[in-house]
Parts: sequence; structure tokens; C-alpha cells
Amino acid sequence: MMPRFPDCFPAANTEGLVYPAEYENFEWTTSFFSGMLWLLYEHTGDPVYRPILQKHLESFYERVEAPGSLDTHDLGFLYSLSCYPAVLLQKDPRAEACFLKAAQALRSRYFPQAGIIQAWGNLGDPQNRGRMIIDCLLNLPLLYQAARLTGDRSFWEMAYCHAKQAQKHLVRPDSTTYHTFYMDVDTGEPRFGRTAQGYSDSSCWARGQAWGVYGFALSYRHTGDRSFLDTSCKLLDYYLERLPEDGVCYWDLHFTQGSEPRDSSAAAIVCCGILELLKHLPLTHPRRMAYEAALNRTILALAKGYTTWNLPQADGLLLHGVYSKPDNRGVDECTIWGDYYYIEALFRLLYGSCDYWY
Ligand code: GLY
Repeated sequence: MMPRFPDCFPAANTEGLVYPAEYENFEWTTSFFSGMLWLLYEHTGDPVYRPILQKHLESFYERVEAPGSLDTHDLGFLYSLSCYPAVLLQKDPRAEACFLKAAQALRSRYFPQAGIIQAWGNLGDPQNRGRMIIDCLLNLPLLYQAARLTGDRSFWEMAYCHAKQAQKHLVRPDSTTYHTFYMDVDTGEPRFGRTAQGYSDSSCWARGQAWGVYGFALSYRHTGDRSFLDTSCKLLDYYLERLPEDGVCYWDLHFTQGSEPRDSSAAAIVCCGILELLKHLPLTHPRRMAYEAALNRTILALAKGYTTWNLPQADGLLLHGVYSKPDNRGVDECTIWGDYYYIEALFRLLYGSCDYWY
């Protein structure tokens, strides 16, 4: 992909298995290509990745100064995979300054009364005011990391409060999840759940559940709050119960058979979540062997049945992902985050961890 995207980014999803090029660094997904290249650079040391990674860094430095592009909680996805590896691997001061600016922007989206970070839009937008979403759990590492880098505990506290509120309101009593949930930001009272990308308000969007499995495991790692580990396990148990024969979920866990599209990207995220969980669960944990078996089964299913290895015309990696079924967007295509998390899972299997989220 490097020759195809020398000074631009692959779009969020393929069209006919080929990624259109994106010349503006605007979407929430641009950093996944950087993340893949950082993983490759970290583990091979090959200088071939340096010039393109430097270009990506410059693009993210510019982005953090463009006010319109900061009206989102996705700063975590964006900066934990672009600038943070440069901080972690190279102690790059410019990358660190940029990373901390992104963390400040994310912190400014926090509503203290409700204890949550608003996901989308500017904070005055009536449609999105006080709306949190399950995906945000993957944006919290940015705050936890910023707290460590600066010694300013307020970053950590906001991330921790948000994770607690997500656990309380986005997770339903039966261990399924809402995609999004509205809080009253003035009184702090919970309002109601709504889907955006799932089948219905009461169903369980597969990728949301996957963000929950991985995200709560990461919040455990950053806070030591064992209840996050339990929540991650419960979400995973529900997810595993809803899998079809080959172990790769449908786009919404409402479906367990039939011809609805799968979402392989959710499966790849769950693999990373299981790999993170296994680092923290005691060897005697009653579900440990079941999780190891689920991980092996899923990775093999993805590798054998869901990769483009025998499709030279494709430049994506993981087939049969879905961006948004209700919007008919990127359905049965490769997604750039599906490709990234598949690679992250493989690198975790090979090298034991991926510290970009830590
Ligand atoms: N975070 C957006 C998505 O999963 O589609």
C-alpha cells in the first residue's frame, strides 16, 4: 500500500476491495494506516517505513491545529496510533507536544456533572449533546497516557469517570451494549440509549460489543479497577454465545444465522481484546481456556476464510467487514480498522503485546 498512498491515506473502507485515496486528514480512520506502519517499523526496524511515517506525523501535527477537526472524541484512535508510537519508540518531543494537544482537546469534551466525554459534534449541538458511545473506550488510552506523560491526574480522572459511566449506562444488565447513550449534562441524570450503526435501539451492534470487550480490558490495565475486567469478560461471554458456525460474527449480534453480512473487523477487535484480557486473567480463571480456544478459532477463521491473500486485485487485508449497515456504507468490504486490528492481533501473538494503547 505504501506506493499507492505515498502522501495520502486509504479511506475508511474499500470500494470493490480497493481503498480510495483520501487527501485530507479528516476522518477518524486515517491513523490506522500509520498504526500498521508503526507496528511493522517497530518489529522489523526497516528504515523503509521512516519517510512515510514522518509524512503522517506532519499531517497529524497540522490536523491538531485545525479547530474543526477536533470536534470529535476520536482523537484517541487518531493520536494513539500516529503520534504516540513516535513518543514511545523515539521519544520524539514534537510528537509528544502534538499528542498532548490532542489529549487537551479530548479533555475539553468532558461534562463533569454527567462524568462523560461527548462523542460527536461540537458541545452545543443539540443532536449530540451529552451523547456518549461505546467506541469511546478506545479513545481513553490517550487520556491515561497523557496523565502519565504530564503527571496531571485530571486526564486520568476524566477517563476513569467516563469508563465507569460507560460501564453503568452503555452496558445493559444482560451484558449486551447500547451503541450510544444520552446523558443529561446539566443534572447528570441518564436519559436513554439509541443505536447509530446497529440493527435497532435494543439490539447489540457487534462492533460496539467488540469495542467494549477490548476497551474495558484496556481501562482495567490503566486503572487496576477489577470491575472493568469482569465487564470485559461478560461482554465477551455474550459475544461468544452469538457466534455462527465459523466463529466470525454478523454485523449485529441480533443475527446468528442467515445471509446478513458479517463484520470481520469486530472479530479482529475481539481478538485483540482477548489477547489483552489473557494478560490479566489469573491462570486459574474458569473461562481462560474457553477464551484461548475462541481466540485461536477466530484468528484461524479470519486467516483462512476472510483474507485477501488470493485476490491480487484487492489492497485491503480482511474481507467481509461492515462500516455502517443502516447507512449502506462499506458493507461487505475491507475496513482500514479491520485490517489494522487483524495486524495488531497477529503482532500481539508474535511479540506478546502492543503498547500503543498503553
Ligand atoms: N468508531 C466508529 C466505528 O466503529 O464505526
